[in-house]
Amino acid sequence: SRKELLAGKRVLVTAGGTMERLDPVRYLTNDSSGKMGFAIAEAARMMGAEVTVIKGRTSVAAPAGVRVIQVESAEQMLEQATALYSNCDIVVKAAAVADYRPVVVADQKIKKKGDRLLLELERTTDILETLGERKEHQFLIGFAAETDQVERYAMDKLRRKNCDWIVANDVSAEGAGFDGDTNILSVYGPDGLIEALPLMSKRSAAARLMELAAVASRGGEPE
Ligand code: PMT
Repeated sequence: SRKELLAGKRVLVTAGGTMERLDPVRYLTNDSSGKMGFAIAEAARMMGAEVTVIKGRTSVAAPAGVRVIQVESAEQMLEQATALYSNCDIVVKAAAVADYRPVVVADQKIKKKGDRLLLELERTTDILETLGERKEHQFLIGFAAETDQVERYAMDKLRRKNCDWIVANDVSAEGAGFDGDTNILSVYGPDGLIEALPLMSKRSAAARLMELAAVASRGGEPE
């Protein structure tokens, strides 16, 4: 039954947005609420998995019955994800991770001076790519938040980051993407589109995604 689809499996989910500090009271972040990642964590738990969520900044509560690890920056999320990776069967990277962080994190609050302030940013390490490089037995699922040419960029990410699947959402579409309770997901594998889900609640989308992942991670065909 559905309740046992992921029995005995260890699932790692990242959720929410990272926070990249500028100074003790300011940071760069994004609109991720954590809803998508939490819905995935909850769906996996309901299917019998042992679930760990690494969460950044979120605006809703984490589901019950899952282990929660709180982080702030992309760097901290990377550390936790790589530490837990070897013990995971399925990894879902639904977090919105900063691509850039401030080069300098000021010890004190940055003072106002002059009309302009130039902020220098540097690339963060790509967590998904790092996990892709170290992939052994894990079934690795990345997300792709796109605004155009969704399929092309999703397939490009899948290959570049050595994922098993990429779940794309067109974050410019009405009812999809950041913060809301609904999403429009398309699941891509190495041979292209596996399933395009219509607009639905993040909970329902997460349940379908994990149902597909449970079967595929055992080497089966989706039904
Ligand atoms: O949290 P919600 O409000 O419910 O919103 C859900 C969501 C829109 C955040 C979610 O559905 C989503 O699309 N998450 C991925 C957002 C994102 O960062 O996409 P991306 O295309 O920039 O990154 C692609 C993948 O690489 C993602 O799996 C991301 O976690 C990963 N990444 C990106 C940068 C980085 N430094 N490390 C990463 O691992």
